[in-house]
Amino acid sequence: MRFTVAIDGPAAAGKGTIGRAVAGHFGFGHLDTGLLYRAVGARMLAGEKAEDAARDLTPEHLANPDELRTAEVAQAASRVAVIPEVRAYLLDFQRAFAHRVGGAVLDGRDIGTVICPRAEVKLFVTASAEVRAKRRMDELQGRGQAADFDTVLADVKARDARDAERATAPMVAAEDALVLDTSDLSIEEAVAAAIAAVEARRAG
Ligand code: DC
Repeated sequence: MRFTVAIDGPAAAGKGTIGRAVAGHFGFGHLDTGLLYRAVGARMLAGEKAEDAARDLTPEHLANPDELRTAEVAQAASRVAVIPEVRAYLLDFQRAFAHRVGGAVLDGRDIGTVICPRAEVKLFVTASAEVRAKRRMDELQGRGQAADFDTVLADVKARDARDAERATAPMVAAEDALVLDTSDLSIEEAVAAAIAAVEARRAG
């Protein structure tokens, strides 16, 4: 059985949490595609050319995801993500994952528009910049990293602008995506809405 759930949206809107929960509920595989760009960004920060890092990326580079979940690597990921060659190198890996037998959930920025335009379910998960900055701050502090609200908010807005305004595969809701604004939803409510969308498509 092949069944793809595409989840897009800005940073810290809840895509990862929802993606993991939907995948767990249905027994699908889950790919956080932001990690691919973060791995390339981290290698660029270490002095490699971004295109070379993307071309040579292997699953081992994703083995320590927590090391990639820093604010510095997030900004680097957003910068390498504007390079068309980087995006092209990462395309096959993502498409192969999307077509895996047993179902797949991918979350990112361009899954429903570019990577999997024929996904069975497309969600665009969003929330206000302030709510997202607060969530990101709590997450960073939870991992023992210092975080100040105004800095995190500025980072979130800078990344939103770069991700939405780039020429190649900008972040945008697919026309046929269900938009889920999680600003005033609990995690449970947001996950339930996403599961309901998948159930509806599977029943239909
Ligand atoms: O989802 P994330 O915060 O880990 O993503 C980090 C950066 O990677 C994000 O700012 C833009 C880029 N990205 C992308 O361009 N396309 C994707 N499908 C996923 C992430």
